[in-house]
Amino acid sequence: MKILVIGSGGREHALVWKLAQSPRVEALYCAPGNPGIARHARCVLIKTDDLNGLLDFATSKAIDLTVVGPEGPLTMGIADRFREAGLRIVGPSKSAAEIESSKVFSKSFMERHRIPTARARNFHEPEPAIQYAKDHGAPIVVKVDGLAGGKGVIIAQDEDEAIQAIDLIMRRKTFGEAGSQILLEDCLEGEEASFLVFTDGKTIVPMVTSQDHKRVFDQDQGPNTGGMGAYSPAPVLSEALQEQVLREIVRPTIDGLAREGRPFQGILYTGLMLTQNGPKVLEYNARFGDPETQVILTRLESDLVEIFEALTVGALDHLRVRWSPNVSVCVVLTAKGYPATFESGQPIRGIEQAEAKNGVVVFHAGTVLRDGELVTAGGRVLGVTAGGRDFQQARDLAYEAISRIRFEGMHCRMDIGLKGLKGLKAAG
Ligand code: AMP
Ligand code: GLY
Repeated sequence: MKILVIGSGGREHALVWKLAQSPRVEALYCAPGNPGIARHARCVLIKTDDLNGLLDFATSKAIDLTVVGPEGPLTMGIADRFREAGLRIVGPSKSAAEIESSKVFSKSFMERHRIPTARARNFHEPEPAIQYAKDHGAPIVVKVDGLAGGKGVIIAQDEDEAIQAIDLIMRRKTFGEAGSQILLEDCLEGEEASFLVFTDGKTIVPMVTSQDHKRVFDQDQGPNTGGMGAYSPAPVLSEALQEQVLREIVRPTIDGLAREGRPFQGILYTGLMLTQNGPKVLEYNARFGDPETQVILTRLESDLVEIFEALTVGALDHLRVRWSPNVSVCVVLTAKGYPATFESGQPIRGIEQAEAKNGVVVFHAGTVLRDGELVTAGGRVLGVTAGGRDFQQARDLAYEAISRIRFEGMHCRMDIGLKGLKGLKAAG
């Protein structure tokens, strides 16, 4: 099979790394890819938002299967375009992807289908929003309707912060069009976990559970980022809770989208808050998470090509997916300054030495080759991923590998996987 992966981050490196292990693959391409991806796939310089360019490439190369990493092209309708052209693609249509691209749509969808989520109101104008925030009181969560690269959620701890956020989004338009509507949402308390499934629109195949770390510093301090690390499994999401999430959240979501004429085929990611009143949806993503994918796919034992193929032809019900019982931990190494303005162009050393350790894979995100030398080229630079019998072993291995990698201004959280370690102990 000829396969094309779209994207250039750590998530796409993990996808390409896993796909390359399949005996079914005869050619593997990635657009645009990165230097780590180039070790397993041929990188083609087409941007992820150049739908015409991607479609031309897939047609001319007779690509059998395309896998979309990021939300951008899905929101632009890449899956519709490819399917109209008779090409197989893993990812939802533009209208199904609205579950991620519009928080106003996804909130009203959840309300229509009685899917547990925080109570919220949506606003087009700043004045009534400010009045509602005052009446509601803090804490209150302010959410930009459209895509905002993980930065469109502000948890206001007092009234002033809420008013400031509303002002910034609706009057000063810091998020542009994405912020023309906002949600004001009750603040939920509990542990967070990510639950991803493969679905062909009918059958739902759960992946192993995982947990992301959004804040830039240890103990969840500092501003939100795209994700500083992840681990799998997430012990807080017990078997019983997973059953409950499937029954009360994932199944009604897939069925509800189908009933509304937006059948969903691809990866559905639910970001959950495990509250005292049960699991509730914080957000949906219409794609794999980053860095969750790095820890999930390093635990996948089955052939990913077979899963994707079954997904695109509606045959997931015939498949048994196998996972490793191992724990996987991914620690993201970031550039100086991230998530604000960050430095680029710093030489990176030691990846080979890090990967010399058995069980370690270093996924590239923001890297580029400059005159043959690997240098930093993004906020999130590398995702050092390690597997082990338990959290202790996986963590020790990941941090031992990281000690071998160097670049100027390198930062990482030191507490990735600690919660898992404690969770497992608490669970006995
Ligand atoms: P989202 O992009 O909607 O997942 O939001 C990003 C992060 O904001 C989540 O991972 C949570 O940590 C936090 N968050 C979002 N909604 C809420 C909420 N209603 N209550 C508390 N925290 C929230
Ligand atoms: N890790 C969160 C996301 O991919 O949206």
